[in-house]
Amino acid sequence: MERLFDVAGKTVLVTGGSRGIGRSIAEGFVKAGARVYICARNAEVADKAAHDLAAYGECHAMTANLATVEGCRTFAAEFAVRVDRLDVLINNAGAIWAETLTEYPESGWDKVFDINTKGPFFLIQALLPLIEEAASHHDPARIINVGSINAIRVPDHETYAYSASKAAVHQLSRHLAKQLAAKSVTVNVIAPGMFESKMLTATLEEKGADVVLGPVPLKRFAGPSDMAGAAIFLASPAGSYVTGAILPVDGGTATTL
Ligand SMILES: NC(=O)c1ccc[n+]([C@@H]2O[C@H](COP(=O)([O-])OP(=O)(O)OC[C@H]3O[C@@H](n4cnc5c(N)ncnc54)[C@H](OP(=O)(O)O)[C@@H]3O)[C@@H](O)[C@H]2O)c1
Repeated sequence: MERLFDVAGKTVLVTGGSRGIGRSIAEGFVKAGARVYICARNAEVADKAAHDLAAYGECHAMTANLATVEGCRTFAAEFAVRVDRLDVLINNAGAIWAETLTEYPESGWDKVFDINTKGPFFLIQALLPLIEEAASHHDPARIINVGSINAIRVPDHETYAYSASKAAVHQLSRHLAKQLAAKSVTVNVIAPGMFESKMLTATLEEKGADVVLGPVPLKRFAGPSDMAGAAIFLASPAGSYVTGAILPVDGGTATTL
């Protein structure tokens, strides 16, 4: 049983691991004995997070802008200097943009799709050689894409590009799962519900916690261990036969459709 959820010794990359959900996932893997890399644009915040998490194990910070193909390729080249295999890639970095339908700007649409949808695809493409190095028939390499409950349940707020970009991530993950199974790589989605991060700050300030938690049957926000637990399951021996799955970690919100 101890080995069922064992991820000790695995090399794990968490994009956007400097704060919020990514940091929670990174913390779980560090505490479980993995060798963890986090990356984000803001080097100071990423360095501080890695420094704090290194109190529990191994954690390294890197800087990257994963919203461009060039940024993904540059990061992958730098990463390949530091590691010779990647057991678990967690595409978590993301952004949101809210605006009325009539005012929704092209810049907001592009910003959201670039980091939420385009970035994960081209990062997977750039890191595939390292991912394949870690893949074996009985212990596949793992790709975990962070989607959203908003790709399953239509949100109440006007975040059109966000819900569309995350729905694309969900189906892209299923497509890649089918494609990469022959290479012993699993691809799954964690679809979080409401997590109190910087991304949720504006919505919480505008609407209040009671309204935000209205559609959530379990009546609480997702916590750090909810996010880490789902990711560790998918990365561990327990999750080795799961691919193409979309796992809502949402307090039951998806049941209210
Ligand atoms: N919070 C929620 O309720 C919720 C619900 C469902 C799904 N999600 C999803 O969960 C993921 C994490 O969200 P969060 O709430 O933790 O958000 P957050 O607190 O805003 O954190 C976002 C992370 O992504 C990084 N990032 C943003 N743009 C980037 C870029 N171009 N290149 C590299 N890194 C970038 C940020 O660092 P820098 O700014 O320094 O780059 C930060 O580390 C996202 O994919 C989000 O859509 C969140």
